[in-house]
Amino acid sequence: MVIPSEFWLDDERLIEEGLAGRLAADSPEFARFVDVTARRPSGDAGAGHYRDPKEHEESFALALSALELTAADRYVELCFGGGQVLERALETVQSAAGIDHSPDMLALARELNADAVAAGRLELVHGDVHELPWSDAEFTCAACLNAFFFIERPGDFLAEVRRVLAPDGRFVLVTAVRDAASNGPWSPALRTYEPDTLRSMFLDAGFAEATVDESSGRQLSVALVRQDASG
Ligand SMILES: C[S@@+](CC[C@H](N)C(=O)[O-])C[C@H]1O[C@@H](n2cnc3c(N)ncnc32)[C@H](O)[C@@H]1O
Repeated sequence: MVIPSEFWLDDERLIEEGLAGRLAADSPEFARFVDVTARRPSGDAGAGHYRDPKEHEESFALALSALELTAADRYVELCFGGGQVLERALETVQSAAGIDHSPDMLALARELNADAVAAGRLELVHGDVHELPWSDAEFTCAACLNAFFFIERPGDFLAEVRRVLAPDGRFVLVTAVRDAASNGPWSPALRTYEPDTLRSMFLDAGFAEATVDESSGRQLSVALVRQDASG
């Protein structure tokens, strides 16, 4: 059943109901709660949160540490949200790019990284990560944080990330573990994978090797492109 938009809850009420776990997982209102708060954040009540997503700080630190950025890197971020990791990466790298399909996230990330955008050091793209708007081997490293669980065609997405990475490139993925209890009210909407399954998905997408580590309580993967780039 589709509820006509004039009967929808306003965003604040929707978020309150969703966070309290009071929306049925198969309802259109639950789908809208997931969109507004996380899958395509929008509006003051939903997207405003990504100005300072404190609960993501631990994942930001995990990813930045695993990336081991150097000044020579060219970094790309998939699903950049508020742009905090791009901002921190740009403290080390000279040049970076990112893509996200939420117009409100694009605006937030632009505002936070205005100087880097103006200086031509950061390219921010509005688009879907299933098809990346860059040439083969453009980047030395890539990351995707707190978003892989929303990707509908993960195999296509991973193959695209692999395609835009240079020989010896690396991809850091931080996502949720397969534990409904730790994923809160969004849990029914998340696609999560066992470590062995995810490792196979990286290899199928053309990465040469991949490690998946859940010791932090989050799922942290590092996938590598072979030096000769043959896959
Ligand atoms: C939960 S937020 C995480 C944002 C940020 N990475 C962070 O950790 O704070 C998920 C992000 O993924 C983006 N996203 C989800 N699916 C996407 C897709 N198919 N293409 C592009 N962006 C997508 C959303 O717009 C949102 O910014």
